[in-house]
Amino acid sequence: MEIEKQLKSHGAWIGKWTFILAASGSAVGLGNIWGFPYKAGTNGGGAFVLIYLGCILVIGLPIMISEIIIGRRAGNSPVNAMRRVAIDSNQSTLWRFVGWSGIFAGVLILSFYSVIAGICLNYIFIAASSSGAISSPDQFSSVISSPLNLLFWHTIFMTLTALIVSAGIKDGIGRMVKILMPMLGVLMIFMVIYAMINGDFSQAMTFLFAPDFSNVTSDTLLQAMGQAFFSLGLGMGSIMAYGAYMSKDQNIVTNSFTVASLDTLVAILAGIAIFPIIFAFSLEPNSGPGLVFVSMLSAFNQMQFGQIIGPLFFILLSVAALSSSISLLEPGVAYMSEEGILSRKRSAQIISFLAWVLGIGSALSFNIWSDYQIIAERNFLDSIEFVTNQILLPLGGMFIAIFVGWFMKKSLITDEMGSINPVLFFLWRFFVKFIAPLSVAYIFYKQFF
Ligand code: PFF
Repeated sequence: MEIEKQLKSHGAWIGKWTFILAASGSAVGLGNIWGFPYKAGTNGGGAFVLIYLGCILVIGLPIMISEIIIGRRAGNSPVNAMRRVAIDSNQSTLWRFVGWSGIFAGVLILSFYSVIAGICLNYIFIAASSSGAISSPDQFSSVISSPLNLLFWHTIFMTLTALIVSAGIKDGIGRMVKILMPMLGVLMIFMVIYAMINGDFSQAMTFLFAPDFSNVTSDTLLQAMGQAFFSLGLGMGSIMAYGAYMSKDQNIVTNSFTVASLDTLVAILAGIAIFPIIFAFSLEPNSGPGLVFVSMLSAFNQMQFGQIIGPLFFILLSVAALSSSISLLEPGVAYMSEEGILSRKRSAQIISFLAWVLGIGSALSFNIWSDYQIIAERNFLDSIEFVTNQILLPLGGMFIAIFVGWFMKKSLITDEMGSINPVLFFLWRFFVKFIAPLSVAYIFYKQFF
């Protein structure tokens, strides 16, 4: 009965690779190809990259394993998963609020994610028709200066997300990611090779990999940590929801390693594809959110068959965004339909509508609201991004680590871990108990006190 309830509301992964594909689909997205390069660019490059990698290994990976353990153990949406595992461990059901905070963060993230993904959709057509007559920075300025244009593409992207989640994610996205994510990988490698040959490769490598710690501030630490949570899709229950439908014979640790490595690889490849072009065309590495659009469009404008390869690149980027955006909507929808509050379709419509309305603020912060500041000199979009990436996700992740490390019954954990090398188990537990929560707490402390 329970299982039927889950399958009806959510679906189960069928096949050995489907969990990895869906989880990688959730992880690999705009955060890797749009976010990582521009954040590395605005934070001085190498030192940011190194701190980011450290956060993935020390904080992200142990928390990813923990989230999947909770999800698979309970087999429910995150709110109920936290509740049920807490009950099974004789702990307070207040832990379910970690799940609620995830639903809230998911809606907030989806609101601006859809605006940026809408720009990707728009760029499919721009790249197909661009002749290079307008410089790529001017092209980006003209795209973002029109509120109606941004809202139009935001609406299309949000509708696509809601449609896929309404249909149940198994058939739609499960099939799509199988073909399209490998294609994105191949195209990324092509862009890296293109950048190596035609761009200023050595300057880019120095910028990305030679760390200069003199400019590292507590803000750099917080941004790198936030980016690690965002990119792996942690701290808000996405991966917990996906883990709920992973079969018991799958190994959580190896799956997590695979997903985290793929995610990191794509982020680094995006950096290596983008920065050589930025330096070769004397563009600014710290130019912010327009970085990927500006650099890639100038590359496509120069290259042979750019009008074919360009649109293809933005199509794949949009698909990567779509396979992430559905995982942002999923925890809330899974909860509402699992509880029988509303049907899956209605839940998807209502939650995505909320996110769409909030997204209007993000679309306007590129133009008429650009001077309108909300949190510490940040415009609307940057404020929402700050609250989610740098506060809610790390906080959610910290509570998950504390729960699994200190409160969850050990026998439940070892059940889920299956046969695992005892040294590895010990190490993971040590990281979950101490290193991950203390690192998050330390970074918060440095930044806010
Ligand atoms: N990981 C996605 C990206 O890098 O674009 C975004 C994301 C998905 C964030 C799922 C958070 C999440 F729970």
